[in-house]
Amino acid sequence: MSTTSEPLKRVIVTGGSGYIGSHVIFALQETRRYKVISIDNHHNSHPKCLDRVAQIARDALPKDASEQDKDTAEIDAHACDLTKPDEIRGVFERYGKGGIWGVIHIAAYKAVGESTEKPLLYYANNVGATVSLLQVMSEYGCTRMVYSSSATVYGTPPIIPIPESTRLKADSPYGKTKVMSETVLEDLCTAEPERWRALSLRYFNPAGAHPSGLIGEDPKGRPGNLLPLLAHMAVGRVKDDKLRVFGNDYPTPDGTCVRDYLHVIDLAKGHLLALTALADDSKVFDNCPTAARYKAYNLGKGNGMSVLQIVEAMRKATGYDFKYEIIGRRRGDVPDLTADPSLAQKELGFFAGQDLQTMCRDLWNWQTKNPNGYDTEAPSPAAAQQPTSVPAPQPTAPTSDEPKSQPISSIASGPTAVPTTA
Ligand SMILES: NC(=O)c1ccc[n+]([C@@H]2O[C@H](COP(=O)([O-])OP(=O)(O)OC[C@H]3O[C@@H](n4cnc5c(N)ncnc54)[C@H](O)[C@@H]3O)[C@@H](O)[C@H]2O)c1
Repeated sequence: MSTTSEPLKRVIVTGGSGYIGSHVIFALQETRRYKVISIDNHHNSHPKCLDRVAQIARDALPKDASEQDKDTAEIDAHACDLTKPDEIRGVFERYGKGGIWGVIHIAAYKAVGESTEKPLLYYANNVGATVSLLQVMSEYGCTRMVYSSSATVYGTPPIIPIPESTRLKADSPYGKTKVMSETVLEDLCTAEPERWRALSLRYFNPAGAHPSGLIGEDPKGRPGNLLPLLAHMAVGRVKDDKLRVFGNDYPTPDGTCVRDYLHVIDLAKGHLLALTALADDSKVFDNCPTAARYKAYNLGKGNGMSVLQIVEAMRKATGYDFKYEIIGRRRGDVPDLTADPSLAQKELGFFAGQDLQTMCRDLWNWQTKNPNGYDTEAPSPAAAQQPTSVPAPQPTAPTSDEPKSQPISSIASGPTAVPTTA
């Protein structure tokens, strides 16, 4: 990436210390065109994560880096709760009116199962906070947003692969918070077409980690998603001896649920493309049906993988002999959630090129270097440079204090799996 002399654009990333947020910050810093400001209340993340992201950016600076380049490697991190408008205002006030170019709004709660038990918590944190954030953005003249949505907005889709034109019919309160937030954004862009422009990104199943092994997914508690769950089993952090697979009688090639996994780095780069598409000279809104400059894009590979294919890929990446048993279907699971990503490819230039093997390799590299997530001391720069190329040995000692008696309650099959995330 070449050094640029253009002034930096200040961009706020909400949920910056989380799994996707940290990789998005990496992608922004890699360009050396943005000054990243992170907002996170660490509800589900570790503040240390941002030190690691900054370390990646610093290590990538050329020897002759300018002062501005060096500045891009440092993150302005704010501990701020987005459900508290005064706290958001406090952050914007530091940069003044017009001081923030755009916001990538990633922060949210994402556990589908929990959202069915605590809907108000989800509506307050995911919808209420989005409204508060937009209000404060408006006050400070910041009117560009990239929004983290999810494939879960489609519920049980009538067509596979799923195009963006599919009706939105989320099943869970979590999914509905994504539909509602998208609606709020679209209404705002419709009401003030000259001021606002926004893009919703509907993620399919992000997986993997930055190849350095310095940052990755570090869920608090038991992983809700399949890949991190398998990684935790292989590293000895989850001690179940078997994975429970919910149903093998779905209308899919091997009968287990199919999801569309994409590398988190590819996903992160999709945010960069979306952010660029919010620029004044962008053409992506030219074909909008109304004056509103609002659109939604699927970010996926367009390739479905079944639960059993994922287990097999993780067996190869880790060398761990996963045992599983098939149990009955779980309520709410959708057989197939595979994206049609062609619109994002055509209009944003998005392409999720990394394969499943790479996702599993990078996940395992992160997990073995950080068996206890960010509570593990940072790998040395030399160790962090290369991804683990051969499967690490199976763990001999458990590394977590998770209660032994905890049953496997889910095997992840994506957006609607309970209590699977996102
Ligand atoms: N991970 C997935 O599989 C997936 C799939 C589709 C969509 N998404 C969406 O992507 C986004 C990020 O997901 P993730 O996997 O990185 O989750 P994550 O939990 O790792 O990251 C979310 C971050 O937001 C922060 N946060 C939550 N509420 C906040 C608040 N009120 N104020 C400030 N910070 C707050 C959390 O502390 C966390 O760091 C979410 O919006 C999620 O719905 C995720």
